[in-house]
Amino acid sequence: MYCTRKITNSIHWVGGNDRRLALFENLFPIPRGVSYNSYLIEDEKIALIDTVDASITQQYLENVLFLLNGRTLDYLIINHMEPDHCANIEELLLRFPDLKIVGNAQTFSFIKQFYNFNLDGHTITVKENDSLSLGNHTLRFYFAPMVHWPEVMVTYEETKKVLFSADAFGCFGALNGNIFSDEVDFDRDWISDARRYYGNIVGKYGLQVQKVLKKLSGLELNIICPLHGPVWRDNFDYLLGKYDLWSRYEAEERTVAIMYGSMYGNTENSVNFLANGLADAGVRNIAIYDISSTHISTLIAEIFRCSHLVLAAPTYNGGIYPPMLNLLHDMKALNLSKRTIALIGNGTWAPLTAPMQTLLEEMKQMQILEPVVTLKTTLKEDSMEQLNQLKLHLLSSLSE
Ligand code: FEO
Repeated sequence: MYCTRKITNSIHWVGGNDRRLALFENLFPIPRGVSYNSYLIEDEKIALIDTVDASITQQYLENVLFLLNGRTLDYLIINHMEPDHCANIEELLLRFPDLKIVGNAQTFSFIKQFYNFNLDGHTITVKENDSLSLGNHTLRFYFAPMVHWPEVMVTYEETKKVLFSADAFGCFGALNGNIFSDEVDFDRDWISDARRYYGNIVGKYGLQVQKVLKKLSGLELNIICPLHGPVWRDNFDYLLGKYDLWSRYEAEERTVAIMYGSMYGNTENSVNFLANGLADAGVRNIAIYDISSTHISTLIAEIFRCSHLVLAAPTYNGGIYPPMLNLLHDMKALNLSKRTIALIGNGTWAPLTAPMQTLLEEMKQMQILEPVVTLKTTLKEDSMEQLNQLKLHLLSSLSE
């Protein structure tokens, strides 16, 4: 049975949710599920904006066919050619033989790479700033390369001032009937998944996100319709403000996140000692994560949030403890920068902190605080003294 909602009198949400999928992209845990959003515009000509993942095809077709009510579908706009949004193109072509697919040159090259169906006579290739009239609605296309793939474009409906933003402004989490951000407590219940989605999916492409934000800054916006997560009808300063910070790799909060690996609890003990000292000095909301048991996507999201990091890990096989190595590689791959970092290494016979330091120095604008603390197995008087020095430098940096 159909499950749709109205965005305006003539624009409808026709997407759906997957609450069974454990890992988005077979990488990221989504305990709250995920939504795949698609939108149908009714006018003299009827257009669909993107499709959905194959896992919810049946629900999707029921939604679209219900709203069409026997009419034909004229256009399918492909803003993004990743399979979680484009899995139903062939199914729609089979049902609507006169359907025109609207995309850019790269969209069509990707369609041919993914699928084998014949597109002859079905394509409309658009360029930056081209438009398409549906009657009362006019769609205008703006390219948004690498947000999050190279073919991505966003579609702006000029009459109602609705932005169909592709992956931009998306979020993990199934939509629980409340498809609008103003129907939920976004800052309480959704922002951490929005940050985790941004940081891990789009985080690498801050420069490209900045370019799109600049391009969109001239547009009047009434509604933002992303491909995942809630639709926005207000509070745009909040949403655009987060995107501006994240894409410039600026922290949201001046606070400390401590991320440690510990084989037998001794490195963990050192970060607890440091955290207690920071708390005694008035630092609030300190976050501590065991990197062996916290998914890396959560750690990345927390690095996007926090200005100061403490990274602590034992030496392993003469190098970096594997979960910490993985984290540092991911930070570098995602272009994370502009953080102040305290380092703690531990080892029983040959403790090393230089490999962690080297990887951090390969990232941009990472400030490593003195002293870099080296423990020999457990916290003793001399290493406590080093940790106290590090705490003072952390405190002084936090108050800058
Ligand atoms: Fe939700 Fe980049 O696809």
